[in-house]
Amino acid sequence: MLIRILQDIALMGGIGVILALILVLAQRWLSNYGEVTININGKRDLTVTGGETLLTSLGDKQIFIPSACGGRGTCGACKCQILDGGGPILPTEKPLLTKQEMGDNVRLACQVKVKSDIKIQIPDEIFNIRRFHSVIEEILDYTYDIKGVTFKLSEGQTIDFKAGQYVQLETKPYGKVKQKVMRAYSISSKPEIKDRIQLIVRLVPEGICTTWVHNQLKVGDEVDFTGPYGDFYLRDTDADIIFVAGGSGSAPIKSMLEHLREVGTKRKMTYFFGARTVKDLYLEEEMRDFEEYFDDFEYVPVLSHADETDNWQGKTGFVMPYFKEAIRDPKNTEAYLCGSPGMIAAVTKSLINDYGIAEEKIYYDSFG
Ligand SMILES: Cc1cc2nc3c(=O)[nH]c(=O)nc-3n(C[C@H](O)[C@H](O)[C@H](O)COP(=O)(O)OP(=O)(O)OC[C@H]3O[C@@H](n4cnc5c(N)ncnc54)[C@H](O)[C@@H]3O)c2cc1C
Ligand code: FES
Repeated sequence: MLIRILQDIALMGGIGVILALILVLAQRWLSNYGEVTININGKRDLTVTGGETLLTSLGDKQIFIPSACGGRGTCGACKCQILDGGGPILPTEKPLLTKQEMGDNVRLACQVKVKSDIKIQIPDEIFNIRRFHSVIEEILDYTYDIKGVTFKLSEGQTIDFKAGQYVQLETKPYGKVKQKVMRAYSISSKPEIKDRIQLIVRLVPEGICTTWVHNQLKVGDEVDFTGPYGDFYLRDTDADIIFVAGGSGSAPIKSMLEHLREVGTKRKMTYFFGARTVKDLYLEEEMRDFEEYFDDFEYVPVLSHADETDNWQGKTGFVMPYFKEAIRDPKNTEAYLCGSPGMIAAVTKSLINDYGIAEEKIYYDSFG
């Protein structure tokens, strides 16, 4: 009897192993797409191994499509037009595509798998995005959860960007995090400095990249990033400016202000910085220096959760009610907003409805 039971177990085990083998072989066979061609803008052919996403396949060939969410299908930054191939639009893409985009076969490069030859159309600026190798030069503690990190580029490398643009930082595996991830960070240093950049990184609890930056990175470590990306940059006009930021959203505003100091400006500028309490304020000295330097610049910190221990004499609550004093002519005012999606939505609504600023003059980068 016992021998019979053991025989049955052995038989079942054997069948299990054979089935698993068949499954692995089938998977290999099914996902073996061989070499496929990506044709770009009708000019250039790239030969890649099929099966990867369009974003990864292009990245492997040093063509970097913006991907603010690191390929998670949540930001929509990786949109590109597919002229031929790519299969049907996936359910994961639909929430981020407009009807018009779907009609034009605009797709999310992070979701489309390259399984056969494909033809795509991408803007020429994308060819200017490069990979950089750097060494950490300085790490500053701006607040208890915000650090300023300076990345010195490898010998001979220089970066050209517009004040306000961002890079994608590439983490390294650490602790229980086995994979590397890419995350977007706005450049906080001025574009006139080309051999190093500074980023301002706020710690997100349990966040993969920010925990790595805050707890693992040391001066002297080597880090790769790609960039520059984004259309959130300072427009070269003489319009008045309202800057609004919260948390680490001051990074691109700092870059814009440093750039304006470099090139000179007579523009009227007001910077509203929203923070919870006094301990969330930083770059205060730099902002007071800007006030001294520029003809018409005011820095307005506004605290939403100040209590008596803060001993705060300044402005409190939401930032929006204070815009009134800063807007002298809505038709000649631009707004640059940076921070959480909630803040951007609330401020945009108020600028349009309460202050009459045209939507097309409101520029923003949402950190969500
Ligand atoms: C264009 C752009 C520019 C950006 N610039 C900056 C910058 O200059 N400085 C900066 O600090 N960040 C910036 N961000 C945000 C940054 O890209 C990351 O999303 C953020 O640092 C979290 O990364 P993580 O890997 O640590 O967290 P993840 O591992 O991605 O997330 C962990 C968890 O936290 C949640 N989460 C993610 N981000 C936030 C957040 N900001 N607040 C609260 N919860 C969050 C996620 O939903 C998830 O549940 C920018 C984002 C964009 C799109
Ligand atoms: S990279 Fe963010 S949606 Fe594709």
